[in-house]
Amino acid sequence: MRGAVESIVDELKRLKESGVTRVYLEDASVTGLKRALHSRFVRAHTGEGSPSGNPDGLAAAVPLQPPQLAIPGGDKSTRLEWLRHRVLHCPVCNANTRPGKKVVFGVGNVNADVFFCGEAPGADEEIQGEPFVGRAGQLLTRIIETMGLARADVYIGNIMNWRPATVSGHGNRPPTAEEMTYCLPYLKAQVEIVSPKIIVALGGTAVNGLLGPDPSRRMGSTRGRWFEFEGTPLLATYHPSYVLRNGSLSSKRLVWEDMLQVMEKLGIPISERQRNYFKTA
Ligand code: URA
Repeated sequence: MRGAVESIVDELKRLKESGVTRVYLEDASVTGLKRALHSRFVRAHTGEGSPSGNPDGLAAAVPLQPPQLAIPGGDKSTRLEWLRHRVLHCPVCNANTRPGKKVVFGVGNVNADVFFCGEAPGADEEIQGEPFVGRAGQLLTRIIETMGLARADVYIGNIMNWRPATVSGHGNRPPTAEEMTYCLPYLKAQVEIVSPKIIVALGGTAVNGLLGPDPSRRMGSTRGRWFEFEGTPLLATYHPSYVLRNGSLSSKRLVWEDMLQVMEKLGIPISERQRNYFKTA
């Protein structure tokens, strides 16, 4: 299982390859990094685990034991509200959230037919405490609206409830396997309560989180394909951030083709304009 130190090293390598020669580190990040490296050194030399259970001791503790949830009875809204309260008060989620920022729980319609699942909150999301409200979120909202739906018709959640910490305190990094394992019961509980007809997994982290990791999986050959998550059809597609970064018309067209599949499966009428959206663009 990859830890936070490996993720940081990967990030530093990526930065170096893109020409960055210096990174600014906040004092708190330096302290966290020293702690991580120290606990790694101790473990390597004594075989002891870190007391927190977090292999790197970076940021706050991520216990190896994911939360055990006994969702109470009641209607969907009551159960979802119970879960929301549980997540927003989760000590681990809060300990991993930057000071002054928010833990992020899913939003939308508890009776939604479609459950969009992303990766993790970014800078805008941890400020507003809502998933997909930044640039990628605005693109997702446009996609949903082009399908003839509104954000309020669907449910939007993330694998992670907090924004994964970076050494510099800036930018985003993919969650570690341990972070994902910790947060997954919260996401699974949201899926169980909403019980959508379709899950749309946005990007590789969502696909790996929901279907289980597969090192040979590539999004290029996974997107557009149907899978199953605990009995619910799951469609894999590109993450809106990838579409923004990639910028090509073909990546937009592929995501749109995937959304047409979702509409077809749900029996949502598709107009000529929707069908030909990118053919005429
Ligand atoms: N990217 C995600 O995966 N989730 C968000 O909430 C925002 C950006």
